[in-house]
Amino acid sequence: MTRTFRMTFIEPDGTPREVAAPEGLSVLEIARRNGIDQLEGTCEGSMACSTCHVIVDPKWLDRLDPVSEEEEDLLDLTVGLTETSRLGCQITMTEDIDGLVVNLPVEHSNMLND
Ligand code: FES
Repeated sequence: MTRTFRMTFIEPDGTPREVAAPEGLSVLEIARRNGIDQLEGTCEGSMACSTCHVIVDPKWLDRLDPVSEEEEDLLDLTVGLTETSRLGCQITMTEDIDGLVVNLPVEHSNMLND
């Protein structure tokens, strides 16, 4: 049976939205299930758009899998990049990150439309 954890999205205006986070789903998929449409995920997780950009709460950064080279290249092109930026489609929910907190960025860039 799939276990369900919790995670929180912080809206750009500071409003927290705590949601159910089933094990094995990506942060992008969790956002979609909860109608958080700031994360567009235009390329469906194939690392071609960066519209799934999230800013991870610094407390959680060390618990995530390291950034792949491909993800890093795409992040370099992301509008509003921060030290703790990650792609939501590349973060998979596990017990280790139960309680994860990510901030939603104010704006997105979309490589597919550029
Ligand atoms: Fe396109 Fe994550 S959904 S890079």
